[in-house]
Amino acid sequence: MDVERVLDATAQLSTPVAVVDIDQARRNITVASQAARAAALALFPHVKSHKMLALAREQLAAGAAGLTCQTVGEAELMAALSPPEIMIPVPVAGRASIGRLARLAHRVRISTVVGDIGSARELDDAARRAGAEIGVFIELDTGYHRCGHSVTALKSLAGGLGRMSHLRLEGILTYEGHVYARRDGALQRARAAYEQIVAAADEIRAMGIKLERVSIGASAGRPVVRDHPRLTEARRGSAALGDLTQVEVSAMRESQCAYGVVATVIARPSRGGFVIDAGAKALSYTQSIEGNHYGRIVGAGGTYSIDRLADEQGMCDTVEDVPSIGARVLVLPTAHAASIDCFDTALLSSADGCRPVLVDARGAR
Ligand SMILES: Cc1ncc(COP(=O)(O)O)c(C=O)c1O
Repeated sequence: MDVERVLDATAQLSTPVAVVDIDQARRNITVASQAARAAALALFPHVKSHKMLALAREQLAAGAAGLTCQTVGEAELMAALSPPEIMIPVPVAGRASIGRLARLAHRVRISTVVGDIGSARELDDAARRAGAEIGVFIELDTGYHRCGHSVTALKSLAGGLGRMSHLRLEGILTYEGHVYARRDGALQRARAAYEQIVAAADEIRAMGIKLERVSIGASAGRPVVRDHPRLTEARRGSAALGDLTQVEVSAMRESQCAYGVVATVIARPSRGGFVIDAGAKALSYTQSIEGNHYGRIVGAGGTYSIDRLADEQGMCDTVEDVPSIGARVLVLPTAHAASIDCFDTALLSSADGCRPVLVDARGAR
């Protein structure tokens, strides 16, 4: 991220402003697609990370096999780009959302996750009514403990899916989000997850069930993915824009982060420290891995941690050189995806100039 350029480009704007250094984002997109190609993985960039048609378009142009979306609303928006496939790697439940997904499957190839036979039947019925077919994955819990299941549960689920007329069983997936649980050992946790999912796929295949696709997620596992050639695809989110969580697990360098929030110093209270005009409604309440800050400020003649948040303010308490009131600073958030969802628009900054773009899928559920 070119901090000077970003601060210059936003000098006349009211803050907080969400900024994407598009030159850096393009470099990150290229690196992600080269890494996937080198590991013979199909790449499904996760758009929840930026929520912008402009960036998803660049990811498809860089060779993505499809897009990953976290919600039906994101998928509806991204369908405008006619990607080869949209994958929703979490279960979709509730009559209204399932109906929307099935109707979308009429226009674009869709895959998603089913977690039990009852939900699979509901999805199958909706797909039949919409005259569509939906690809399904079953999800292994490799340690993140969200929607994934044990191998035993997946074996029984996979057996039942063969009876669905409008669902096609594509494969198995995991989201190994626990790689971000601690600063150290991310790659070991990623490797363990990859070994587990490949072994689970083998167990299910041994039942005579075809599972062609083995899909993993977390960007931080990228350096070791080549050692696991039986994975077939990766859903990379954070790799495009980066944030301090990626930096803390050594998956990216701070200079590779392409997203930040420009803020202004608004107060220097007598107790010490300073306050900026970006709080939880610009950065989100996501804490660092060790729970000791909400983001870091760069470009104020020093590096500062945001120690506390109010809705619209960020407080830096433990500071020696306090910047002056009115100083503009750039905040690198701990979680860019949660921060970007706080803004209707973001500024795309590049060496050729800058332009505002819509955060198209903001709030799209
Ligand atoms: C299901 C799923 N897949 C992939 C990703 C992308 O992970 P990352 O941002 O680490 O690349 C996420 C992120 O939350 C996710 O929930």
